[in-house]
Amino acid sequence: MDNRPIGVFDSGLGGLTAVREMLRILPDEQIVFFGDTGRVPYGNRSQKIIAHYSRQDAEFLMSKNVKAIVIACGTASSVAGALLEKELPVPLTGVLEPTARAAAAATKNGRIGVIATEATIRSGSFQQALHSISPKLQVFSKSCPLFVPIVESGFMLEHPDITKEVAETYLAPLREADVDTVILGCTHYPILKRIIGEVVGEQVRLIDSGRETAAYCRTLLEQNDLLAPAGPGDCSFYVSDRIDDFSKVAGIFLREDVHSSVQLVDIDK
Ligand code: SIN
Repeated sequence: MDNRPIGVFDSGLGGLTAVREMLRILPDEQIVFFGDTGRVPYGNRSQKIIAHYSRQDAEFLMSKNVKAIVIACGTASSVAGALLEKELPVPLTGVLEPTARAAAAATKNGRIGVIATEATIRSGSFQQALHSISPKLQVFSKSCPLFVPIVESGFMLEHPDITKEVAETYLAPLREADVDTVILGCTHYPILKRIIGEVVGEQVRLIDSGRETAAYCRTLLEQNDLLAPAGPGDCSFYVSDRIDDFSKVAGIFLREDVHSSVQLVDIDK
């Protein structure tokens, strides 16, 4: 048993898809979330910069005395997950393995689509994770670079029709590839799940990387005897810019007013 908080980080607010699920399945836990809203998106940057930012994000969480770290960011998990696992003195999970396991279990025809940022697709990380489960799986990958700014700016709330047109363009190759399962390999994408689902069709299973990673976080805590004693749990939020924008979208997504729990940090300090 351990009552220290769990640290969660993302390039922006996509990691809230993991936090929402963690609040549900780990109600006794304290969570410290850091969203790097001043430097989002990570997905179109070089490996060197993504690794540097990810290391700073993890160091910030370590300064909050966390007992475990969840990299709730597909891009940071793909580029810096292995590196941080070696460097950090606490158990850590990224999104890759939990999400790949769920997709491999869900597919019936062995044809899996992966949508994620350019850096994640370029790294081949999901393909590797899926092939280490079964080399027979056929993987069809597509980067969707506009999805992150659409989510971060809240554009989809005011312009669902344009968001759907963007999704139709991005997802056409996966429809042609006859995939029966699609990995939402960036934690921002589950916020667009309804629109993505309408485009790919209800017969296609969507695997939510935030949700699967949150579920695995519980296992990680159990395995390391780190579950918190009886709660109450809660979540404090830190961002590197734009508290008001973060609070607005986070409030809608988490269905609670989080503004008073959000603090600004200088992540470069
Ligand atoms: C991004 O910052 O570009 C997206 C984060 C992710 O891959 O989950």
